[in-house]
Amino acid sequence: MPASVVLGAQWGDEGKGKAIDQLANESNWAVRFQGGNNAGHTIVLGDTTLKLHQIPSGVTSTHCNLVLGDGMVVDPWVLEEELDRWHSLTKERPEGKRLFISERASVILPFHRMYDSADKVVGTTGRGIGPAYRDRIERVGIRFVDIPFVIDDSDKIDETVSRMNMQLDSVGVNKKIGRKDFIADLKWIMDRFGDAIRPTGAMIDNALKNGENVLLEGAQGAMLDIDQGTYPFVTSSVTSRANATHGAGIHPGHVENCFGISKAYTTRVGNGPFPTELPYDTGPGNHMAMVGHEFGTTTGRPRRTGWLDMVSLRDSHRINGYTGIVLTKLDVLGGLDELNICTGYDLDGQIIDCMPTSSHDLARCKPIYEIHQGFPALKEQEWIDMAELSRSDRKGFEVLPETALSYVRRIEELSGIPIVSIGIGPDRRASIASLGGPFDVDPEVTTF
Ligand code: IMP
Ligand code: MG
Repeated sequence: MPASVVLGAQWGDEGKGKAIDQLANESNWAVRFQGGNNAGHTIVLGDTTLKLHQIPSGVTSTHCNLVLGDGMVVDPWVLEEELDRWHSLTKERPEGKRLFISERASVILPFHRMYDSADKVVGTTGRGIGPAYRDRIERVGIRFVDIPFVIDDSDKIDETVSRMNMQLDSVGVNKKIGRKDFIADLKWIMDRFGDAIRPTGAMIDNALKNGENVLLEGAQGAMLDIDQGTYPFVTSSVTSRANATHGAGIHPGHVENCFGISKAYTTRVGNGPFPTELPYDTGPGNHMAMVGHEFGTTTGRPRRTGWLDMVSLRDSHRINGYTGIVLTKLDVLGGLDELNICTGYDLDGQIIDCMPTSSHDLARCKPIYEIHQGFPALKEQEWIDMAELSRSDRKGFEVLPETALSYVRRIEELSGIPIVSIGIGPDRRASIASLGGPFDVDPEVTTF
């Protein structure tokens, strides 16, 4: 197998981590290619849960090399915290051994975090992502490979510190960056991570030439893509398939499979239009939030909830050309009498079947729903038993309650994409694969 891509097909938090966890077992490399510590995924190791923001989810597969790729912005302080937590749990120190930071990745500095804290429009995660990418596009940012040169260039240091302070001032942030602190920070990054900073694109290319498998891990989701998402309520990177290889430093011809991860409903954190949004405090929207534990991994903010939106899923497919959909958290919908699927929008009396480009227009779109019968709520263990039965009796999706199965089949019909795996609980075993599909593998993986 060459390279596979895993992407969020909605507004992020689709549950990519679990799908990646399954695929990483077959992969030699897991590569993040965009974003930074605005992402968050939860890893369950025995009784402990671990929140990771930059380390690829593939970390739990001991044989898997990990790359923080060219297209990323990396916060070294957050990375240190993540690595320390990983070490205290597993006693492993992967940095420089199987975890590598691309020379081309951009450094997130305290300045970027301070500047991001002034955001009042987008509802960013406040982690400095946008400001770090802005510096990169303006060609004033610092990549990991540049750090030693900057340390030795006193003019560049003066210029950078004064630019940062002017910019902080301009958005009303009173704190200042000191010259000494700035140099000390850069030196610390080299001391701490110097061994791990590598030409990772060439390393991945070599691995592919040697027949190794590469997993390209997306962060955020298609609707948060800077170019194709619900601008300006988006993140600052290209989250799409087209950037999976580019942001990893390899060419697009390597990609064989591209999996879109979608919840069986929809969530969104932060601001911006969300046509199928439901009231949060009551009814099915509240059910999704509570049963699905819909709180952001990175910021802890409650996620907005709503019905599955085929209009956005079709647009997401147009951009990314999914070879398969992984439908997550189907179990969460158990117990609702009726399930709605949005098949089109009403925009000022006109029926449309793709998302309008302007967020102003999107905000006025009223969803048109198809109504499906719900299925009962089951206990966590009952879902796990169902998944085990699916595997032992080679039944695939046929183990699902009848109305759940027809909901799933209808999603395939409306999207034109085969569903290759269905998540029915947080447990590693609580997934059902389509028979003979790419996820039709043993869930007992070799991990820590
Ligand atoms: P930023 O990426 O911090 O600049 O935030 C921009 C928008 O993307 C905000 O609406 C965030 O809530 C959203 N966002 C960023 N990362 C994630 C993620 O991993 N999951 C879901 N939403 C995200
Ligand atoms: Mg997340």
